[in-house]
Amino acid sequence: MKLFDVYPLMDLNIVRAAGNYVYDEQDNAFLDLYGGHAVISIGHGHPHWKQRIAGQMDKIAFYSNAVINELQTELAEKLAQISGKEAYRLFLCNSGAEANENALKLASFHTGRKKIVAFSKAFHGRTSLAVAATDNPKYTAPVNETEHVVFLPFNDVAALRAYFSLNGNDIAAVIIEGIQGVGGIHVASDEMLQAIRDLCDTYNAVFIADEVQCGCGRSGKFFSLDHTGLQADIYTMAKGMGNGFPVAGLLIAPHINAQYGMLGTTFGGNHLACAAALAVIETMEQENLVHNAAVTGDYLLRSLQEIKGIENVRGKGLMIGFDVPEQLKTLKLHLFKQYRILTGEAAPNVIRLLPAMTIDRVIADTFLQALQAAIDDLNN
Ligand SMILES: Cc1ncc(COP(=O)(O)O)c(C=O)c1O
Repeated sequence: MKLFDVYPLMDLNIVRAAGNYVYDEQDNAFLDLYGGHAVISIGHGHPHWKQRIAGQMDKIAFYSNAVINELQTELAEKLAQISGKEAYRLFLCNSGAEANENALKLASFHTGRKKIVAFSKAFHGRTSLAVAATDNPKYTAPVNETEHVVFLPFNDVAALRAYFSLNGNDIAAVIIEGIQGVGGIHVASDEMLQAIRDLCDTYNAVFIADEVQCGCGRSGKFFSLDHTGLQADIYTMAKGMGNGFPVAGLLIAPHINAQYGMLGTTFGGNHLACAAALAVIETMEQENLVHNAAVTGDYLLRSLQEIKGIENVRGKGLMIGFDVPEQLKTLKLHLFKQYRILTGEAAPNVIRLLPAMTIDRVIADTFLQALQAAIDDLNN
């Protein structure tokens, strides 16, 4: 049987990985500054993460949400501690799309309304409502098209206010990435986030922070929204949460009531997933990784701003993007082929850096030197 061919693949067969590096079948090491779409948070194959999962495997790997699972309670407590959202409640699921799908449903249950506000270049996942709130017609099947979602221009406070003043009482939720990932690393402005908070308060709509990519410490704070001091009503998270083990979740503010049957999942919050997520938070705490994301991210950002040839260096913490001019359009491929460095991209001409939060200065310098050399190669 062949694979359903939906992914354009890189010419790379990764057979093992450790820390910030992955290895091909000839044991060539590649510096991983992409982490398989921002998923690797505490480094590939972290010993504590492996031990936690293997130890759990010896006890029980899975049972459904029909029984008590104390690991879920432990994870909720750990998440409350590290995020500071002590009064919020946790719902566990399996992927970013599922987290957003549930968040949007919950907002609609809570408000009794149907309208969702999303923004230009947003990416919220591939399931029905999440993809309807994703600003890319290529991902949206005819059946996903809905009048319930409206797209407003990103960071345009006036447009948001105008839309609310006409439709505020119909709006169930506003969903926004604090830092757009797939859209090309665009940071939501403080003014925009404050306006969303104020308007949601005025009109009793739900503020959903999609922290699937920018959350779990990557931005240098646990949630990217924490840089503003604002609180969302629902935070969704996934990628970095399990360091590669599929686990996702929603943190839900106390004023949103739970009712039996309103949300559900077979696999979400299973024993292995909880063990993986616990190991990630424990490692973040032990190794001070959120702080490292802030410090090393800041160093990378400032150093990249000095490099001639690339443009519009932007981001926060270890979520960094820059534009590549036309004459350097093969830069990503060149870094991969000649320097064995994996980076991410975003259409049309953005390189995205989403390294594991264990990255240090030495690795950052290795990358910066290689980047300069790759630019020089292509310019000569
Ligand atoms: C901000 C954001 N939300 C949601 C998703 C969807 O996550 P998943 O692929 O786990 O469904 C992604 C994935 O790239 C994302 O970047």
